[in-house]
Amino acid sequence: MSQSHTVAVLVGSLRKDSASRKIAQAIADLAPAQLAFRFVEIGDLPHYDPDLETDAPPEAWTRFRGEVAGADAVLFVTPEYNRSVPGFLKNAVDVGSRPWGKAVWTDKPALIVSTSAGGLGGFGANHHLRQMLSFFNMPVLGQPEVYIANSLSLFDESGALVSEATTDFLRTVGESFAGFVARNVPAKADRQAA
Ligand code: FNR
Repeated sequence: MSQSHTVAVLVGSLRKDSASRKIAQAIADLAPAQLAFRFVEIGDLPHYDPDLETDAPPEAWTRFRGEVAGADAVLFVTPEYNRSVPGFLKNAVDVGSRPWGKAVWTDKPALIVSTSAGGLGGFGANHHLRQMLSFFNMPVLGQPEVYIANSLSLFDESGALVSEATTDFLRTVGESFAGFVARNVPAKADRQAA
């Protein structure tokens, strides 16, 4: 059996009925068993302020940094807000980037999924986030690209996916990501030796 890997899941929407969160859950449910997904909450992170970067930084920052640092890979599922990512997701990227030299993101393989209630699929948000992650040397899955349009029409009232085509696509996305993670995460034995 292939080695298993943990994936931190960050969702760029705070609302209870978020389509992005449902899409994140669907990817987790459909992906191969060697990926273990753990949702990491980001809505409670205080705005990044270097003055708070003391021996006792905000508890939520410490919790968040620990959860991301402990994962092998990261899945971002985010709606587009005004042609970019929602502000609190950018804040999470910033919180995880400090203290200087200790970014929790460095080298972790990532999958970016953008969503939109409209027809464009959040292209702007997807590529702004891609630009941020390149700074941390994070390899981001290139294919398939995942832009989920018309996100509010994809689920029934019970939260189940209604489209077979979307279900098949998200299953393929999970399979591609599992292979990508396996190729981009150093073997655990190598990491222990490093
Ligand atoms: C949006 N929405 C939106 N949609 C889009 O395709 N491009 C955009 O730039 C924006 N901008 C935007 C800004 C703000 C402040 C809000 C609240 C919404 C609409 C967005 O796609 C819709 O609200 C989704 O339902 C959000 O995703 P969740 O919350 O369902 O995951």
